[in-house]
Amino acid sequence: MTQGVHIRGIRKADYDFLVRELDRWWGGPSGQRADPMFFYEFGEHALIAEHDSEVVGFLLGFITVDLGYVHLVGIEPEHRRMGVGKALYQRFEERCRAAGVRRMKAIAAVGNDGSVAFHRALGFEAREEPDYAGPGRGRMVFTKSLP
Ligand SMILES: CC(C)(COP(=O)(O)OP(=O)(O)OC[C@H]1O[C@@H](n2cnc3c(N)ncnc32)[C@H](O)[C@@H]1OP(=O)(O)O)[C@@H](O)C(=O)NCCC(=O)NCCS
Repeated sequence: MTQGVHIRGIRKADYDFLVRELDRWWGGPSGQRADPMFFYEFGEHALIAEHDSEVVGFLLGFITVDLGYVHLVGIEPEHRRMGVGKALYQRFEERCRAAGVRRMKAIAAVGNDGSVAFHRALGFEAREEPDYAGPGRGRMVFTKSLP
C-alpha cells in the first residue's frame, strides 16, 4: 500500500483531527500526549501520511542539535502492517540526515511489544531502562545511529 501513501507536513486541520482521533488509534487516554507545542513549535518536523486523501498516520518529532526524536507515532488501526509507519520514519530519517544529525531516538511503554518489533525492524536498538521517566516508571528506549 505504501505506493499510494503520500507523506507531507502537518497542517492545523490535521492536528485538530489527530487530537480527536488519537484515543481511538492508540486505544487509551493519550490525546494529551499530542501537546500543541508539537504543532506550533515543532510542526516543521511533524509528518502526516495520507492515502486516498484520508489521514492514515502521523509522526510528531523534533530535531535537536544532535538527534532526531520521535515523540509520538500512530497509524490508523485498519492501516497497520502496510508500511505506513516505516514510510513516516524513513522520511523523518531523511530530514535528520539533511539537518546533519546522526542519531535517532524514541521511547515506548514497557510491554508495547508491537512498538518494540517495529523499531527493531527499522534498525533501532531497544533496551528497557528502569526509572527512565521517574521512580517506578520504566520505558523501552529505542536508539539508532545514522551512518
Ligand atoms: C507501531 C506502529 C506505529 C507501527 O506502524 P505500522 O505502519 O503498522 O508498521 P509497518 O507496517 O511500517 O511495519 C514495518 C515492520 O515493523 C514490524 N512491525 C510493525 N508492527 C508490528 C507488530 N505489531 N508486531 C510485530 N512486528 C511489527 C514488521 O517487521 C513490519 O514489517 P512487515 O509488516 O513487512 O512484517 C503502529 O502499530 C501503531 O500505530 N501502534 C499504536 C501506537 C504505538 O504503539 N506507537 C508507537 C509508540 S512509540
